[in-house]
Amino acid sequence: MGDKLKSVEIFREKKQNKEFVAGITAYNYPVARIADECGIDWILVGDSVGTCEMGYPTTIPVTMEDMTTFTKAVIKGVKNTPVIVDMPFLSSQTTPEEAITNAGKFLQLGASGVKVEGAKKADNIKAIIDSGIPVMGHIGLNPQYYFQTGYKIVGRNKDEIKKTVDAAKILEKIGAFAIILESVTTDLALEILKSSSIPIYGIGAGKNLDGQILVVNDILGLSFDFKPKFSKQYVNLEDKIRKALTQYQKEVKEGKFPDDKHIYS
Ligand code: KIV
Repeated sequence: MGDKLKSVEIFREKKQNKEFVAGITAYNYPVARIADECGIDWILVGDSVGTCEMGYPTTIPVTMEDMTTFTKAVIKGVKNTPVIVDMPFLSSQTTPEEAITNAGKFLQLGASGVKVEGAKKADNIKAIIDSGIPVMGHIGLNPQYYFQTGYKIVGRNKDEIKKTVDAAKILEKIGAFAIILESVTTDLALEILKSSSIPIYGIGAGKNLDGQILVVNDILGLSFDFKPKFSKQYVNLEDKIRKALTQYQKEVKEGKFPDDKHIYS
């Protein structure tokens, strides 16, 4: 059963059944395990690990080695949940051969597929798919193109709308099994949804899509001052962690920890 659930076939089935799909990013064993146990539909080991967990200002410095380490931890945590892994900057953009080799490494670690930003390197993406590796597309705002585009909402002029709709068509044509739309206007998202037969998920792309994905640190309140409008914080872990650590520090200083309950007699 686990293997069936982990195949990307499940994404198609959920679309056919008109079931909204909830995905999150995860970067470590405990969060992946909890997400799996909660029945979260799918997990993305996002290259947002760079900004969320490694303190980088962008996702550009994230390497294949980094993604490998975090992917291993996430895979250990899941039993049934499909895990998709982000191809980090330059891991799929150079040659088709390198793109296949890099993508294949994640499948061999236990991922169900990979996610690639943009559709400009469609030949490379097709090469990955033709090698038997499921690919999820990611268009709209593409953080790996930050130094060309900045972080801005996509779909507020005709040129952007056309380019994004065309990109979605290309991705579907070459065999992507789903597409993520990031930070696009609601109208643009709905236009793409209507003209696609594969699942369309959004992050900052409005409602009524086939599903949503959020960055787990935003959900958990671990993104410090970065609070995107489209994201919803469901708990303030930063606050809880600060309180717990402050209390621990205080109890050690005051000689209250460890007490009798926490020592070996
Ligand atoms: O890396 C990431 O977290 C992502 C999401 C924004 C979809 O690509």
